[in-house]
Amino acid sequence: MDVAQALHMNGGDGDYSYSNNSLLQRKVISMTKPIIDDALTNLYSALNFPKTLIMADLGCSSGPNTLLVASELVKSVDKIRQKFGNDESPEIQIYLNDLPQNDFNTIFLSVSKFRKNLSNQMVSNNSSSPCYISGVPGSFYTRLFLRKSIHFVYSSYSLMWLSQVPEMIDINKGNIYMSTTSPPSVIKAYREQFQKDFSMFLKCRADEMVSEGRMVLTILGRQSDDPCSKECCYIWDLLATSLKDMVAEGLIEEEKLDSFNIPQYTPSPKEVRNEVEKEGSFVIDRLEVSEVNWDASTGNNLNLSEEEDVQGYNMGKCMRAVSEPLVLSHFGESTIDEVFKRYAENIKSSMSREKTKLINVTVSVTRKG
Ligand SMILES: C[S@@+](CC[C@H](N)C(=O)[O-])C[C@H]1O[C@@H](n2cnc3c(N)ncnc32)[C@H](O)[C@@H]1O
Repeated sequence: MDVAQALHMNGGDGDYSYSNNSLLQRKVISMTKPIIDDALTNLYSALNFPKTLIMADLGCSSGPNTLLVASELVKSVDKIRQKFGNDESPEIQIYLNDLPQNDFNTIFLSVSKFRKNLSNQMVSNNSSSPCYISGVPGSFYTRLFLRKSIHFVYSSYSLMWLSQVPEMIDINKGNIYMSTTSPPSVIKAYREQFQKDFSMFLKCRADEMVSEGRMVLTILGRQSDDPCSKECCYIWDLLATSLKDMVAEGLIEEEKLDSFNIPQYTPSPKEVRNEVEKEGSFVIDRLEVSEVNWDASTGNNLNLSEEEDVQGYNMGKCMRAVSEPLVLSHFGESTIDEVFKRYAENIKSSMSREKTKLINVTVSVTRKG
């Protein structure tokens, strides 16, 4: 599988689009806002109140979350500027990066509305163009920007995606991700791919960032040291169960299932720390773990069973928005609706049985001088 081609969130604004099914990720962005504010405050004073700031959101996707991040960054800088008693707003350039298959058009179509809304919300609206938005297609595992040009890098729920499916010497039979039944060589391949990718990411950003630049990364991760722990693998186990049932019913070939592996790795805080320290260009300012429930739905005024129904369905749609292009590229069009119907049912039934949550690992770092 060519991950850079196959991996993207569902575009547009349809029923299964990322745009309409990314409430959970939006909650995570909001939860980490204090860490962003802290990093920006330290950046702004360390750089002696610069007149221009260049920022990047890596793995921005498309939909409300993309421009939410951009607007939070601009508003945060404006508040910090006020706090330090500076009269002049810095001009801000925000680069929105994602893989080339991302729906950049949907973002670009909403930029003028975003700028209008933003200038109404600013503490001061003395600046007619507070920020400039550009799209940057390409993998964040490669260089994306000019050397020493970026002041602030942000990324949320993107760095758990690997650059490729790990090369495996054994078949990950009956699984599509790391699992308690995966051979040790499969777990090792996943771990090594993460280490290789994350250190390449840090090396590229180290080249691109100015000294004293700040970077805040939130990665879907785990608390446990065990890469097969339920907290990170369960969500993919439920997709594997749907696929296995379809193999048993003769709807999908067994070899197709055995050759499909999700290009994702959910690291522990310890693994994130190790890679940052090994690469050596950044100092860790904060490293925090948080949780978000699968039931990010805002549904209220519902009785319990209806609520579970809506929540299960929403998480099913969220996972479809995230993984449909990958699953489609491997299994084809003919089975896709059935796969995701079963996956949503499995999610719904597990949510009715137990409290299910995802773990977020957030690291805030400074580029060494
Ligand atoms: C779950 S979405 C998160 C989007 C957004 N940051 C949010 O929090 O809602 C993950 C995004 O990371 C992007 N992504 C994954 N690997 C990438 C890579 N190597 N380079 C750039 N973007 C990547 C995906 O295409 C996807 O749009």
